[in-house]
Amino acid sequence: MPWVVRDAVDEISRAVGRRWQGLDRLLPPRAELPEGCAAPFVVPGANGRPAGLAACRHQHVPDGTLNQTWGTTHRFSLIARLREADTSAALGDLLGQWRDHLAGLPGAGADDTAAMITWPARDVSGVNTLLRHGLQPITVIAVRPGRPEPGVPAGPGPTGDESLVIREARPADLDAVTELEMAVIRYDVQFGMAILRPATEALVRAETQAALAARPARAWLAERDGEPIGLIHVQPPEQSGWIAGMTRAGVTAYLPTLFVRPGQRGGGVGTALVRHLHAVLDACGVDTTLLHYAQLNPLSAPFWNRLGYRPLWTGWEVRPAASLR
Ligand SMILES: CC(C)(COP(=O)(O)OP(=O)(O)OC[C@H]1O[C@@H](n2cnc3c(N)ncnc32)[C@H](O)[C@@H]1OP(=O)(O)O)[C@@H](O)C(=O)NCCC(=O)NCCS
Repeated sequence: MPWVVRDAVDEISRAVGRRWQGLDRLLPPRAELPEGCAAPFVVPGANGRPAGLAACRHQHVPDGTLNQTWGTTHRFSLIARLREADTSAALGDLLGQWRDHLAGLPGAGADDTAAMITWPARDVSGVNTLLRHGLQPITVIAVRPGRPEPGVPAGPGPTGDESLVIREARPADLDAVTELEMAVIRYDVQFGMAILRPATEALVRAETQAALAARPARAWLAERDGEPIGLIHVQPPEQSGWIAGMTRAGVTAYLPTLFVRPGQRGGGVGTALVRHLHAVLDACGVDTTLLHYAQLNPLSAPFWNRLGYRPLWTGWEVRPAASLR
């Protein structure tokens, strides 16, 4: 990257970081612009300073990885940094440049491709522009500060349900835990968030086996009369580095799975599992917990909100990638 552009990148990264802090203090304090597939797209601004910069990144997610279950095989991501509080015009300009770039790429019109942008949930100034270009909100990254934010209730109290037992999952629970992990994936397939692959179940089983062998525990089962009816699974801070940069500095954990069997829902099992996990995370000094849910999952937003989570980022996508308007 020539030095003039690098200078502009540093300056806009700081400016956007400050703007984000004004919007949402749980966003990261700096908005770095990573290297893209070519020179950044530029929206000219006043005084020779760009009003916006964006990088396009191409990712091929190989067969035989669990990541391929959580999206398309070929992903084209736009990382946009926009200076002004009203992002609509500059974002429209960048999306137009990106559309022309994608239209010239062989393969961007194929099945199993997506054009993606991860946008701060509270930066509502860009929403109409994203919609106009054909992007759809598919996923939410939700955040829970270690201590609930002022005004956020701690969530419903104990269930008083004495037949409910919550216990650490053990290696002998491999079949039950794998089945519950697969049930979450099948549920999320309905909302475009997950894509079942031929290898998904074997990969989930292998990952579950590793997680169940780890101590301290990373997965807990809810049981009634000895029957597993729900599962919660966490990635501790040392495994959550892949997503920790999406929020403020500090100790961050990621919550990949929560599932309660359909016939057992609405009776406080999910709440009991989450409260159990929160007690563990709070005792370990975790500052921030992140999780994904499907924007269109009708059960997620109210449930997580009651337990102290709220949207931090929205994942917008259009499939195939070249259908960006
Ligand atoms: C989301 C999910 C885990 C919640 O589990 P759950 O056991 O139903 O959760 P709870 O019972 O604690 O809370 C759900 C509802 O029951 C109510 N509730 C909570 N405690 C209750 C109690 N003791 N008695 C009766 N109702 C209760 C809650 O207020 C809530 O009400 P709502 O219908 O307005 O949402 C479950 O619906 C599920 O597995 N969904 C499919 C997979 C999924 O969405 N996973 C999360 C992906 S991010």
